Amino acid sequence: MSENQESFHSRVIERRAGLMAVLTTICILIGGIVEIIPMYTVGAAHIVETPPYTPLQVAGRDIYVREGCYNCHSQMVRPMRSDVLRYGGQWSRAAEYQHDRPFQLGSRRLGPDLARVGGRWSNSWHYRHMEDPRAMTPDSIMPAYAWLLRRKIRPNAVKASLRALRTAGEPYDDGTINNSAMLLEAEGQMIVDDLAGSGITTTWDTEVVALIAYLQRLGTDIGAITAAEEREAANE
Ligand code: HEC
Repeated sequence: MSENQESFHSRVIERRAGLMAVLTTICILIGGIVEIIPMYTVGAAHIVETPPYTPLQVAGRDIYVREGCYNCHSQMVRPMRSDVLRYGGQWSRAAEYQHDRPFQLGSRRLGPDLARVGGRWSNSWHYRHMEDPRAMTPDSIMPAYAWLLRRKIRPNAVKASLRALRTAGEPYDDGTINNSAMLLEAEGQMIVDDLAGSGITTTWDTEVVALIAYLQRLGTDIGAITAAEEREAANE
């Protein structure tokens, strides 16, 4: 095309800023509608209510964020065959993120996706893996997080997190928040007792115990969510 042979697009549209702005706006609106309408029409499955994180899981989640685990781990099984096959047969659903404030989707995968890691390994595996990843996976490039075995969670900080989450809309009642120290201990003790069975001695308030509680929760809501989807499909 020579210089004075302008295309229709540049002659009629690009030269008129007003028209260009109107048409651009229309294009953006179409894009927005295409994204928004499915949110309201995919049915009830995406609002299946799952329990919020327990106090100990909240503590573990705060550690996950603090340590930047999301720099190497995503939490989203993409709806592609390879991903779905690798991570247990179900891609991630919107309902799985309802308690994530903020979500931990991540964008880099130097390590495997963790969206469904709950129940995949024993508590003692996680404990030893955090202490020294090479002890469990010989060629691992994951750094060791041995200090998590020594550092303690602070129940007051967890209580503050719970309060903040409630302000953001999480359904914690007064009882949960006021008794959070007790709840932390009860939940942590279950993991401690389980670890003792593998010859590991620790206490309920170590950071690694909270992190294990969080990791073991990840992905455990998918059963309830797919069951609701099936019920909905049967009713259609
Ligand atoms: C430098 C990148 C990197 C960082 C940071 C990192 N990881 Fe990893 N992680 C890996 C790699 C690589 C693997 C796979 C090898 C292995 O099992 O160690 C892995 C494996 C794992 C696994 C086992 C997953 C599975 O499905 O087998 C868990 C759980 C895990 N990491 C948790 C964490 C947590 C929690 C943190 C933050 C405290 C963290 N990782 C930080 C790279 C990383």
